Amino acid sequence: MRMYDIIMKKRNGGELSKEEIDFFIEGYTKGEIPDYQVSALMMAIYFRKMTEAETLALTMAMADSGDRLDLSGIRGVKVDKHSTGGVGDKTSLALAPMVAACGIPVAKMSGRGLGHTGGTIDKLESFPGFTTALTTERFIDNVNRIGIAIMGQTADLAPADKKLYALRDVTATVDNLSLIASSIMSKKLAAGADAIVLDVKTGSGAFMKQEAEAKALAEEMVKIGKNAGRRTVAVISDMDQPLGFAVGNALEVREAIETLRGNGPEDFLELCLTLGSQMLMAGGKAESAREAEGMLRAVIADGSALGKLAEFVEAQGGDGSAVYHPELLPQAAIQEPVAAPESGYLSRIVCDEVGICSLILGGGRETKESEIDLSVGLVLYKKVGDYVEAGEPLAVIHANDADRAEQARARYLRACTIAGEAPESTAFIKGILR
Ligand code: URA
Repeated sequence: MRMYDIIMKKRNGGELSKEEIDFFIEGYTKGEIPDYQVSALMMAIYFRKMTEAETLALTMAMADSGDRLDLSGIRGVKVDKHSTGGVGDKTSLALAPMVAACGIPVAKMSGRGLGHTGGTIDKLESFPGFTTALTTERFIDNVNRIGIAIMGQTADLAPADKKLYALRDVTATVDNLSLIASSIMSKKLAAGADAIVLDVKTGSGAFMKQEAEAKALAEEMVKIGKNAGRRTVAVISDMDQPLGFAVGNALEVREAIETLRGNGPEDFLELCLTLGSQMLMAGGKAESAREAEGMLRAVIADGSALGKLAEFVEAQGGDGSAVYHPELLPQAAIQEPVAAPESGYLSRIVCDEVGICSLILGGGRETKESEIDLSVGLVLYKKVGDYVEAGEPLAVIHANDADRAEQARARYLRACTIAGEAPESTAFIKGILR
C-alpha cells in the first residue's frame, strides 16, 4: 500500500477502505508517513468529505493507536461526559459530584485549556494542593471508594489524534465534521466508558456557530458511539453568551460551589440537570428524565453533592475545606466594574470575545507553556435580555494588573450591544439526540 495512492483516491472523491485508513494512521503514529503527505490527505478529506463507514474506521484506528483505559475494575455502569467547549463552561465541576452523589461512578479524563479560560484540570487546581497526576490504580481505587476521580489525559491515549489535531490546527483542516467527530470520539472510546453523554455547544462562543452545524456534528458523534457499541446521547446547548455568570478559573469554581449549594445561575443549573438526567438514565439509575431530575435536585438540596465535591478534592490531595470556605480560593487584587454606557436591553454579547477578555487578564494560555493566573476573569452582572441603567455594571473584571484590566474592560464593552428593545428569547437547550 502507498500513501500516494490513498491521497489520490480521496482527492478524486473515492471511499477509503478500513485497511487504507488503518495503514495511514499506523504509519503516521509511528512517524513513517511524513506530515506533508498527511496534510495533503486532510485537505482532500476536507473537500471530498468522508462516508459514515470511513468516519467510523478513522475513529477506531485513532482510538486503537495507543493504550485504551481499562475501567473494568470499576463497579457499575461508567458514564462519561464531554463538552465541545465554550466560555464559562465549568459544567464538570458541578455535574460530576451531582451524578456521583446519585450513585453513578465518574471516572473522567480531562484536559488543560489552550486559549480562552483554562480546562477542567486548571480550574480544579484552584483548590490548593489538588493534583490530577494519578496512577491508573489510584484513579480506579478512588472511583470505587468515593465514586469520583478525574485524571489528566495520558500521552498514550489516542496518540494519532494528538498528532493529527496539531497538524490540522496549522493546515486549516480543523472544521470538517468527520474529522472533528472522529477526533473527539476516538478519545472518548479510548477512555473506556460504557456510555457517553455529549454536550455539543452552538453559538458565537462555540466551535459550531450555527445550530444546524452543531446538530450535524451531534448526529455524527452519536452514530459513531452507537456503531462502536457505546450508548451515546448528545445534548445541543446554547453558547451564544457565556454559561452562567463567571468566566475564569477560580471564579468558575466558586460558581460551581454556589450551584451545589442551591444558588446556581438558571442556565447553568438547567444544563447540569439536563446532562445529569441523561447520565443517570444511561447508567440505569432512572427510568425517565423527570425521575432523574428529582434525584439530582435532591442531592443538591440535602448537601450530598457539595459533600461529594469536598471528598473528591481531598482524595486528590486538595484542601476540601475550600468547598465550604471559597474565600480560600485564589482571589484577584483588582475588581473593576464595566459600567453600561447607556440605558437599554443587553441584546448581544459576542461570546468568544468574553473568552478573549479572560485571556488578556491572564486566565487562559496563549501557548502550551503559558502559566495561568487562576484568580482572574470576569463576573457578568447582566445577561442577554436584561435591562441595564446607564452607569450600572454590566460585569466586574477581576485582575491583578491595571493595564490588563483596562484592556479587558474596553474589549468587554465592545462585545456588548445595548438596544432599545428586548431581544427575542431563545431556548437554552436546543435538542437532545440519541
Ligand atoms: N476538539 C477535539 O478534540 N478535536 C477536534 O477536532 C475539535 C475539537
